[in-house]
Amino acid sequence: MLFSATDSLSAIWQTLLHELQRGALDPKHPFRYLSLATAGTQFPQVRTVVLRQFTADLEFLAYTDVRSSKVQELLDVPRVSLHFYHPKKQVQVRVKALATIHVEDELAQEHWKRVSEKRRSEYQSKLGPGTRVEAPAVGWESSSEHSYFSVLKFSPLSLEVLQLAREGHLRIQYDLASGWQGVWLVP
Ligand SMILES: Cc1cc2nc3c(=O)[nH]c(=O)nc-3n(C[C@H](O)[C@H](O)[C@H](O)COP(=O)(O)O)c2cc1C
Repeated sequence: MLFSATDSLSAIWQTLLHELQRGALDPKHPFRYLSLATAGTQFPQVRTVVLRQFTADLEFLAYTDVRSSKVQELLDVPRVSLHFYHPKKQVQVRVKALATIHVEDELAQEHWKRVSEKRRSEYQSKLGPGTRVEAPAVGWESSSEHSYFSVLKFSPLSLEVLQLAREGHLRIQYDLASGWQGVWLVP
């Protein structure tokens, strides 16, 4: 369990932030991967991305190819939901956030430096993600001349946590509008 009914809302908030930070730092932590949901044009779209950083300002950062469908979806509708699940602790975290896309600006440049030489080709494919190809190898071709690297920044508006527990499940909502005070909800 990550927290119990006897913990204070503010203590749980701090525990939660700590756990999200661990997710960004530890590749083996289950919060390392999150589901990113966008509005999509006809259907909601959801996919896994890596949590690259969880900042002191509570911003979630991920990397992507700027040509990917999610970027256009974020340009159309910047409101997203993020989803994390910790199977051992049986905790679910749901976040409502606003997205901004960073290409070749200071933030993107700073993070590009952190991408290893080996990994850089993931943002340098000749064809954009989702392009139809005759065979997989065609899609692996990359050119180092151009990079399509971008940083997605998700600024949360609300954060909801659900702790499964035998004695009774625990659900709390934290909102930016209330200064992240937190309120218990019926699970
Ligand atoms: C474990 C895992 C981690 C992934 N991490 C990322 C990531 O950090 N960034 C990313 O753009 N796609 C990542 N993907 C691929 C996405 O889930 C998705 O397939 C791809 O980005 C295309 O999505 P889109 O067409 O909705 O833009 C990851 C997939 C898996 C299975």
